[in-house]
Amino acid sequence: MEIREITVEALDTETFISEKIEEMRSTIGEGLAVNALSGGVDSSVVTILGHRALGDRFKTYFIDNGLMREGEPEDIVSVFENLDVGVELVHAQVPFFDGLKGRTDPEEKREAITQAFYRDVFGRLVRETGAKYLLHGTNYTDVEETVAGIKRQHNILEQLGIDPEKRYGYRVIEPLIQLRKSAIRKVARSLGLPEQICNRPPFPGPALAARVIGEVTPGRVRTVRGATKIVEEELSDSGAFQYLAILHEDRVTGVRKAKRDYGLQIEVRCWESTDARVGSPSRLPYDVLDRLAERITTEVSGVVSVTYNITKKPPSTIEAV
Ligand code: XMP
Repeated sequence: MEIREITVEALDTETFISEKIEEMRSTIGEGLAVNALSGGVDSSVVTILGHRALGDRFKTYFIDNGLMREGEPEDIVSVFENLDVGVELVHAQVPFFDGLKGRTDPEEKREAITQAFYRDVFGRLVRETGAKYLLHGTNYTDVEETVAGIKRQHNILEQLGIDPEKRYGYRVIEPLIQLRKSAIRKVARSLGLPEQICNRPPFPGPALAARVIGEVTPGRVRTVRGATKIVEEELSDSGAFQYLAILHEDRVTGVRKAKRDYGLQIEVRCWESTDARVGSPSRLPYDVLDRLAERITTEVSGVVSVTYNITKKPPSTIEAV
C-alpha cells in the first residue's frame, strides 16, 4: 500500500489527533495494545495517543536494551510519571547483546536488534499480557530510507515484506507513518508534551549501536556512551538538528605520559537539517571543537583521537551504522 505524506504545512493537528484516536479505537476494539517508549518525540506521541484512545487497555514499556544513553531509562520513566502515564521498565540487555555478539556488518547488526526487539522482548510481553497490537512510532522518513535500500530502519517490517502477525503473533499499528519529524513535533506540542520531549533531538531506534562501528559489546557501548554525554553537554545550545559521537573500529597510535598508546578514535558529528533527509555539518566554532577533543580524550578512557565530520548527507548519512 502506498503511504502518502502529510506535510507539516498541510497538517491540522487537532483533526489528525482525533482521527488517529478514532482509527485506533475501531481497529483495536476491546483488545489490548502495548508500545515501547524510548523518550523520543515519535514514541512519546504514540504513547499519549494510545493512552487517550485506549486508557487501561494500553500498556507502555521502556525497553532497557543496554544501548541507551546515560540515565535515559530512569529519566524518561519519570517524565511520563509526571504526566500521569505509567511506564514499566523492562531490563532486556541480555537478548540484545546476545544477538549483537560477533556481528560487524551494519545491516546484520540492525537485523539482530529488530529480532531482539520484536521476537524476543515484545514476543514475550505480548504473550504475557495477551495484547494483540503493538503501536509503533514509525515515521515517513523511516519508510522512505528503508524502501530506498539506504538503511534498514529497525522498526520497518511490512515494507520489507514481513507480516508481523504471522512472524511474531501481533499486529503493528503505525499512526505516525505519514508524518516527518517536524510534523510529529507539531502533534507533540498539540498533545501538551513538555518542551524537553517536543524538542528532543532525534535518537535512532538501534540507539548507541547505530554509533558503534564494528562489534557492539557492553564495553564499547560504555565508551560511546561516555563520549555521547560530553557531546550532548557541549552542543545542546548549538541549535543543531542532531549531534552525536561515533566509536570507530580502527585504533590509532597516540601518546600519553610520553608512552605509546594505541588507542580508540571518536568521531563527532553535528548536523543542520530539518527532516534528516539531507543534512550539512554545523560550522561549529573552533573553541567548541577544541573543548570536545580535550574533554573526550581526558574523560573517556582509552580515547586518543577525536575527529569532526565535515561531510554532507548525502553521501554521508546521519548515523554511522
Ligand atoms: P540516517 O543515519 O539514515 O538517519 O541518515 C536519519 C535519521 O533517522 C535516525 N535513525 C533511525 N531512527 N530507527 C529509527 O527510529 C533507526 O533504525 C534509525 N536509523 C537512523 C537518525 O538518528 C536520523 O535522525
